[in-house]
Amino acid sequence: MRTRITNIREIVTPVCPDVAVGTDMDKLTVYTDSDIILSNGIIESIVPRNRHEPPINRVLDAENAVVIPAFVDPHTHMVFGGTREDEFNLRIQGEKYMEIAAMGGGINSTVRATRNENEDTLFEHALQNLHDMIAYGTATFEIKSGYGLDTETELKQLRVIKRLQKSQSVDIKATFLGAHEIPPEFRDRKEDYIKLLCEKMLPAVKEQGIAEYCDIFCETGVFDIEESRRILNRAKELGFKLRVHADELTPLGGGELAAELGAASADHLVHVTRAGIDKMVQAGVVFDMLPGTTFFLMSDHFAPAGDILAANGILALSTDFNPGSSYTHSMPMVITLACLKMGLTIEQSINAATINGAYSLGLQDKTGSIHKGKQADLTFLDAPSYKFLVYNFGVNRVSAVMKKGEFIFQKS
Ligand code: NIG
Ligand code: FE
Repeated sequence: MRTRITNIREIVTPVCPDVAVGTDMDKLTVYTDSDIILSNGIIESIVPRNRHEPPINRVLDAENAVVIPAFVDPHTHMVFGGTREDEFNLRIQGEKYMEIAAMGGGINSTVRATRNENEDTLFEHALQNLHDMIAYGTATFEIKSGYGLDTETELKQLRVIKRLQKSQSVDIKATFLGAHEIPPEFRDRKEDYIKLLCEKMLPAVKEQGIAEYCDIFCETGVFDIEESRRILNRAKELGFKLRVHADELTPLGGGELAAELGAASADHLVHVTRAGIDKMVQAGVVFDMLPGTTFFLMSDHFAPAGDILAANGILALSTDFNPGSSYTHSMPMVITLACLKMGLTIEQSINAATINGAYSLGLQDKTGSIHKGKQADLTFLDAPSYKFLVYNFGVNRVSAVMKKGEFIFQKS
């Protein structure tokens, strides 16, 4: 089946179909007076508006929308029980995120709620969150477990992710994050929890084949470098690809560790060191930036995106959607923060939110740009130009989202 998408104000895409790095990061290709031809949900060509292209089975009117690649969000914690709005209220009155965690709140309060929630309810909530994120233009996701911290509940979360993968047309990559925090029952015996992770949880997840990646919260007071190295090496040995929550709150050296282990990405990197940047660039590890988290944790210290770009690092953007440190469904919000708080240009932020996210998930052949042979994963913006994505801050200009050639969201 061939589809023609017509009446498009502008078609905007990263220039290179694989990854945006160096000067490509500053560029976007913009087509005007052009239509997109799809063949069975795959992009076939971009043609001049008045060129005859038979046979066409279906014509879709874009109603003069701007069309960009649907966003790729390579870092979310979308499956969780409960919410933490009261903790948020304490934080805006001065309580610190890590202090709340030390008092038994934070990640561990979501762990309690997630353990207590049955699988169907957990799925229903996750599905609602997924739809809310799609409505902001995202059509490819990474989702982590990490609110179970015991074998049973981690597997429950991963099964929910699997159900999302099976029932929804969006692409989803699953990540095991059993090393997200030390669970309360292991508070004074961290070493025993690490043993459980390495000897029981990781093999159990591997055996079920329900996570492609293993992630860890490598942070002062959580898992230090040596502990992180042990856990990640075990994961690698079992065949997991790696992602790392690195240098988020303190400059512990998570960036360097991600480079040493050949991780797909290191994420957060607010406090990444100069050596960490250089090693990550050399090892080709993606720098996944989460400015929504820095903003939501009320810090003015954002990740050094300028240094990373100057070093030719591969920079991606994510929501980090989770109930504690970044409760937003909106990639446009993250893009705006990346521009206003980390100094990215509009073009750099769109490259980071599309093709580089796809690259970080190994999905660059399928999605992240508007090039021949890729899935028609497209976000339609009701806006005069793509620049309004950033310029018109705090407003959702997404009018429709298409996945593999079919609409999965249309504004009513
Ligand atoms: O990516 N940094 C650790 N993990 C999450 C926070 C999770 C939570 O607070 O529930 C993050 O920010
Ligand atoms: Fe996270």
